Parts: sequence; structure tokens; C-alpha cells
Amino acid sequence: MPLTDTPAAPTAFTRDPLWWRSAVIYQVYVRSFADSDGDGTGDLRGVRSRLGYLQELGVDALWFNPWYPSPLADGGYDVADYRGIHPAFGTLADAEELIAEAAARGIRTIIDVVPNHVSSEHRWFREALAAGPGSPERERFWFHPGKGPNGDEMPTNWVSNFQGDTWTRTTNPDGTPGEWYLHLFAPEQPDLNWNHPEVRAEHEDILRFWFDRGVAGVRIDSAGLLIKDPALPEVPAEPGPGEHPTEDRDEVHEVYRAWRRVADSYEGTRVLVGEVWVPDASRFAAYLRPDEMHTAFNFDFMTRPWRADELRASIDLMLAAHAPVGAPSTWVLSNHDVTRPVTRYGRDDSGFAFAKKRFGTPTDLELGTRRARAAALLAAALPGSLYVYQGDELGLPEVELPREVLEDPMHFRSGGVDPGRDGCRVPLPWRGTATPFGFSPDGVRPVASAAPAAPWLPQPAEWAALTVQAQEADPGSMLWLYRQALRIRKRERSLGDGPMTWMPSEPGVLAFSRGDDVVCVTNLGEEPIALPEHDRILLSSAPLVGGLLAHDSTAWLHRTA
Ligand code: GLC
Ligand code: MG
Repeated sequence: MPLTDTPAAPTAFTRDPLWWRSAVIYQVYVRSFADSDGDGTGDLRGVRSRLGYLQELGVDALWFNPWYPSPLADGGYDVADYRGIHPAFGTLADAEELIAEAAARGIRTIIDVVPNHVSSEHRWFREALAAGPGSPERERFWFHPGKGPNGDEMPTNWVSNFQGDTWTRTTNPDGTPGEWYLHLFAPEQPDLNWNHPEVRAEHEDILRFWFDRGVAGVRIDSAGLLIKDPALPEVPAEPGPGEHPTEDRDEVHEVYRAWRRVADSYEGTRVLVGEVWVPDASRFAAYLRPDEMHTAFNFDFMTRPWRADELRASIDLMLAAHAPVGAPSTWVLSNHDVTRPVTRYGRDDSGFAFAKKRFGTPTDLELGTRRARAAALLAAALPGSLYVYQGDELGLPEVELPREVLEDPMHFRSGGVDPGRDGCRVPLPWRGTATPFGFSPDGVRPVASAAPAAPWLPQPAEWAALTVQAQEADPGSMLWLYRQALRIRKRERSLGDGPMTWMPSEPGVLAFSRGDDVVCVTNLGEEPIALPEHDRILLSSAPLVGGLLAHDSTAWLHRTA
């Protein structure tokens, strides 16, 4: 694609300093979005070639999952170099052009930063291994002698977020068993020691590196985990606030205050978006105090089952938690870690929990899709910003992949019981009737002698019906629903950031107004319901039946103020 003449990225930043409070942010899992060179792996030129699609969809910003050089032991959340681009995805120049081209279309770029851990291939970790026990190089990590007479017991019994152990023993240069190092995730992801000033300075410099390149914000991976209790106690049976040795410790806030100072030193608003899995809503909101992050993912709403009382309780809880800190909530239906909504909502147990994921869970995809449509309009009508994970706008289901193609450490570390997260990371279907469905260009061979490579994860044949091309031709498709919803959300000033007011409704129904003129009604009950007073219907997730809103559907209404 030729370079368009793009205005310098910073000009876009000065336009609307509060853009992030209402923004629709589209999550790009680069590896699975679009492949420009036929190697079966998505890449930055692939994204550049689809910017028109993203603009047409109506998104305000893109959040890219980690795009750095990485052994991909955890899909790129094992970063070997924070200032580069994975060679399969392209080059730093490609990233700069992508950021500029997106900005020229009014789309901002948010990148993923991974501060809790690095790849075991990162220079610092290799130096630490080589330098040996007691060296300054090891102080950037959590190296520790083992317990027991031979040091062959782990320093603690902390359990990994990927299940299993959190310590791996090293081998000394002379071949004898050495110290252990901490990894809250996979062994390929050693945890950094955030008490070390060089660790802090390095990450602030990484932020500057990307802000200098026009990035409008960062998504902060595993943001609540950075600080560990250096005394290495076991996890108490019922840890009180801030008492867990590795989660949500009070000292972590100082890190984000420093990051905010870096962000605020740039023109426009460079946003900090936290991945904060903290169950207590007020502890969660503490990350959003005015001198810390701007927003954080609202996972409470995402994990709730499809029930009116549950969703209403979540909305109330999260809005109340955000109110004192003045931050808007985010609304998230899925991401690259969780079961796709059309699948989740088509199951008997429609809530999400990592521990519950199993192969062969019965799923009614028709019901799930109907509910996912209703959920999309509900989420898009709630006050704050909205995240859309790539493929949700196509209603892609979770794919139950054959075991032999799975890559996710969550699968392997569960002893093969948990299918892992690959099923929501399958390459997108763009057009045509057979794999690769336009994900890779037709007939392009990565090297002259080779056959075109298959997508890195196999796409189901049924996705022929879910391609962008097929859905563009069908006004009843999920893609049309998303396009219309985002267009209306942008046009109606009452939507996005701002207040909401619950309206009286029967059990099983969620009804609220936004401003004076917009009403959102979701029917989670079984019987059709009458709509509140309105002068026109802006959009509905399912056709009305005799003027009534049927089960598992949402309508957006306009009323005269
Ligand atoms: C976050 C990411 C997830 C990754 C983990 C470790 O939860 O979303 O994909 O595996 O952090 O970096
Ligand atoms: Mg490629």
C-alpha cells in the first residue's frame, strides 16, 4: 500500500484531550488479524492494508497486543526487546508508518507494555544467568536460594497464574544446581524486581520511546502484580487488603504515579490503561486516582453470567467504584484471554472464569449469538469507553482446536484439562469460501520455493459464513450491527461518557436512559416486553415482534427531550 501523505501524528492528539473517556478501542491481535506476506502469521502491513475496514467500523483507537521481538512462549507476553518489532510482524519503520497512517484516519494507537516480567531471552535475564549468584545482574530479578539442606525446595509455594509452580531452578555455569528464579507466569517469563531503580528507569524510558513515536497510550499488562513482598511469605489463607505477597500491593501505585508523570509530559492525552484483575471494586478504583492510570479494564462486567440481576449489580458496583476517583468505566465483552461472547452466552453457565474452561462444553451458538448482539448494544450504551476484541464484530465463536495445534501455556500447565486461549485467537476470515479466507493473500509464497503457508491456527470451514465479505452483504449480520452501533454511539452525544439513570422495569429487564434523549432496553427474560415511550427506534439487536422487544435482545430508543 502506498504511503498516504499523513499529517504528523501529534496534531491528532491536540484535538480532543478527553477522547479516551468515550472512545471505542479495537483490540488487534496482530498475529491473527491479517497476513500481508503469506507466511500464515498476521503482520503490521496486514493491519495497514485493513485500516479502511477499521475506519468504516468506526473505532477511535487500536490496542495492539505485544508486537515486540519474542520467542512467543506466551503469545508475545514474553518480551525480548521492548523497543523493536517481532520480525514476523515487520519492522520498527512499519510500526511508525502504521501509527501515522492510522492517525491520518483519526485512529489512535495504544500499545501493550509488559512490566511484570520479561522473556527469558531478554538481554537482562541472559546476563543475570551468566553472571551468577550474588551478582548485580541478578538483582533485577527474583533469584533466591532454595530451601532445604540441598536448596532443592522452592523458596515459596506460590501458585502461578498459569497454574503450577512459580519458581524454576537454574544451573550454575559449572553444571551444579543453582538458585531459583520467580515467574508468576511461565518459566519463560521471569519476574522483574520492581524495587530496583534500573527496572523503573528502563520502563519509563520505554514509555518515552513509544510516546515519541506517536503512540497515544499504553495498555499495562498484569498491572497489579509488579510489587512482591521481599520477605517472601506464603500466601495467607485470607489475605487482607494489600496483604497478598504478589498481588495488589500498596507500593505498586507509586510506579503508576511515575508513569503518569511521563505520560503527562507529552502533548495531548497519552493514556494509561491498566489490566488490573483486582476483585475488590474500591481497591481496583484506587488505580484510577487522578495521578495514576486513566482507565482500567472492567472485568467484573465481562465475567458475569447473562442475567439481568447480575449485570445490573455489576453496572452499579462498577459505576459506584469509579465515581469517587472521577474516572470513566470501561466496558469489555472479551479479549485475547477469554472465551468469545457468542460461545460464552450460549452455555448453561454463561459467566466466565479461567478455572472453568473445559473441552467439549455444550454450546448453543444461535442463542449465544443472539445474546452477544444484545450484549454488544448494552455495553455500547453504558457510560464510558468501549473495547471490541477483533472478531467479536463478526460474531466469531470460540474455536475448539485439535489438541496438537494448541500453543497456549495455560493449556499445557493445566495438565491438558484447560483448552487454553488459542480458541479465541484464530486468524480472522476476510473473504471467500475456503481457508485462509483472505487472511493471507492468495498464492503468495513466503519464500520463492515454498507453498503458501496455512494460517498459524486452523480456521473452521464454517467461517465461510462469517467472513467480512459475507457479512457486508447481509444487513442482519453482526458486522452491520457493530457498524451501526458505533456510528450511532458517536452521533448521539448522550452516549459515551456521561451519566446514566435506571428506569423502572420488570424483573429480567435492564432499562436506562442516557441524557434526555436516548434509552437502552435489554430484555434478558423469556417473554416479549413493551418498550418505554419513544419517538423512534435507533437500533435493535433483533427485529421487534409486534412492536415488542423479544427475549435476549436490546433496543436503543430515541425520545424527545
Ligand atoms: C495478561 C495477558 C495475558 C498474558 C499474561 C501474562 O493477563 O492478557 O495474555 O498471558 O498477562 O503476561
Ligand atoms: Mg505475515
